[in-house]
Amino acid sequence: MTELLLLICAYLIGSIATAVWVSKGVFGIDIREHGSGNAGATNTFRVLGPKAGTFVMVVDMLKGILAIKLSLLIPYYQNPDNLTQLVNLQIGLGLAAVLGHVFPIWAGFRGGKGIATLFGMVLAIQPWVALLCVAVFLLILFLTRYVSLSSIIASIAFPVLILFIFKEEELYYRIFAIAVALMVVLTHQKNIARLITGTESKVPLFKNRRG
Ligand code: G3P
Repeated sequence: MTELLLLICAYLIGSIATAVWVSKGVFGIDIREHGSGNAGATNTFRVLGPKAGTFVMVVDMLKGILAIKLSLLIPYYQNPDNLTQLVNLQIGLGLAAVLGHVFPIWAGFRGGKGIATLFGMVLAIQPWVALLCVAVFLLILFLTRYVSLSSIIASIAFPVLILFIFKEEELYYRIFAIAVALMVVLTHQKNIARLITGTESKVPLFKNRRG
């Protein structure tokens, strides 16, 4: 019962529609009607600039971390003997937050693609894996300047790292890692279509150098 309440709280935290609220509250526009139409940090950066984009990215990431930290509220999970149960609960809490981010109850169920919140969640559970995924993300971004492609490849790197490098044995963790990659591919369907047709927008980073 307490777990169910925490899952609902995690979903409500994930539902904090940072990009929508910042765009409407500060700039008087709905970010979902501009740029890629995505209510996330990348599109906020693209449409409203680096300050707003960074703010949205940090808050969306913190949502994932905060959702995981909800597990601290139940003493049972703090016992080292219950580590497996703790990890399973944390996975549930993180996914509930990501679900809230993608389908926010506070913003008509039209949210973002979950990357920053997923990152915050993985950072809270497995910091080294999260940092390696960031390294993959930055490498692909440097090479291609596509944030979407970088997000997709970094999220595919996640189960690869979990299964083959860190050789995680916990079944739920393995399922979760594969589910994350599939989920990111699903939330990026429009980006994938644009990448195939060559119409996906690139970030202006390294523009002078790479043309
Ligand atoms: O995190 C979302 C990013 O991967 C793509 O965003 O706005 O280019 O669709 P956007």
